Amino acid sequence: MKIVIPGGTGQVGTVLRRALTAAGHEVVVLSRRPSGPGETGWDGRTLGAWAGQVDGSDVVINLAGRSVSCRYTPANLQAMMDSRVESARVVGEAIAAAGRPPALWLQMSTATIYAHRFDAPHDEDTGVLGGREPDVPGYWSRSVDIATAWERELERAATPHTRKVALRSAMVMSPDRGGVFDVLSRLARLGLGGPVAGGAQYVSWIHDHDFVRAVEFLIAREDLAGPVNLAAPAPLPQRAFMRALRSAWGVPVGLPATRWMAELGAFALRSDTELLLKSRRVVPGRLLAEGFAFDHPHWPLAAADLAHRARGRREPK
Ligand SMILES: NC(=O)c1ccc[n+]([C@@H]2O[C@H](COP(=O)([O-])OP(=O)(O)OC[C@H]3O[C@@H](n4cnc5c(N)ncnc54)[C@H](OP(=O)(O)O)[C@@H]3O)[C@@H](O)[C@H]2O)c1
Repeated sequence: MKIVIPGGTGQVGTVLRRALTAAGHEVVVLSRRPSGPGETGWDGRTLGAWAGQVDGSDVVINLAGRSVSCRYTPANLQAMMDSRVESARVVGEAIAAAGRPPALWLQMSTATIYAHRFDAPHDEDTGVLGGREPDVPGYWSRSVDIATAWERELERAATPHTRKVALRSAMVMSPDRGGVFDVLSRLARLGLGGPVAGGAQYVSWIHDHDFVRAVEFLIAREDLAGPVNLAAPAPLPQRAFMRALRSAWGVPVGLPATRWMAELGAFALRSDTELLLKSRRVVPGRLLAEGFAFDHPHWPLAAADLAHRARGRREPK
């Protein structure tokens, strides 16, 4: 197949590109700064020659968007919104204008679209979208608004010959440098991987191999459309999540952090505490109902596998 990945230069794109190329597919990445073979330039906002790559392709997987690992200042939130809405819109325009449109458009979304919640997991049918929770900082609704607007562009696009799926993905855990697993692992190895603000908030995650397998499953299953949660079936409280990560690295202790310490740390890392404190309890209702079997359903074993692969990456050959 020919698979086009707008925004495929980041962490998730690296995972997909590696696996889909190894599986024998032709992968074309759209980037604002293309470098090297397999990358084509675009601006993420306007139609251009890049649309020729979409025409005649089999699958488009749009990942483009300003990184969410930043302070949620008004300017950054606006850039997070605009980059997602505009790139999804223009991908839809390219598909609509194609003489031979792709059979499938997988549009990245996020598990963050669901409400901050402890008591029960969110699946696609019974899950509650976020934005109205009474006891969270008001600005947390902004990331829900962004995800909702992102999915709205997918729904609105007039692409009658192209199946559309929104990937409500949890954190994709891969051993790659700079990815979320790498960042959390560094904290754990420094002894800082303890519970944050009590650690009762749920962490949803998905192992990179299962993420790729789920994408392949969605490509193959021509009957599936609409939102699909991409998350391992066993999200767990942050304190248990970090305990398992420490154990994967052989680190006995992790200092607990209070909410204000998390605020300081997030400020120092130019990140936002919403990423640490929002309870994301999201499960893959549709994938499981449709018969998808996870290779890495439980975090302790998944973390051990990822740490093993990360060690292999770090050791000189
Ligand atoms: N990582 C996760 O675990 C995870 C989980 C759920 C959802 N997501 C979502 O999935 C997508 C990919 O995640 P990722 O971690 O791979 O993100 P990433 O590393 O930040 O990569 C996203 C890519 O989007 C492009 N981009 C950035 N700003 C842009 C803009 N203003 N206009 C157009 N393109 C822009 C960049 O490519 P160029 O600079 O080459 O143009 C960048 O490589 C993101 O939208 C993210 O929110 C990620």
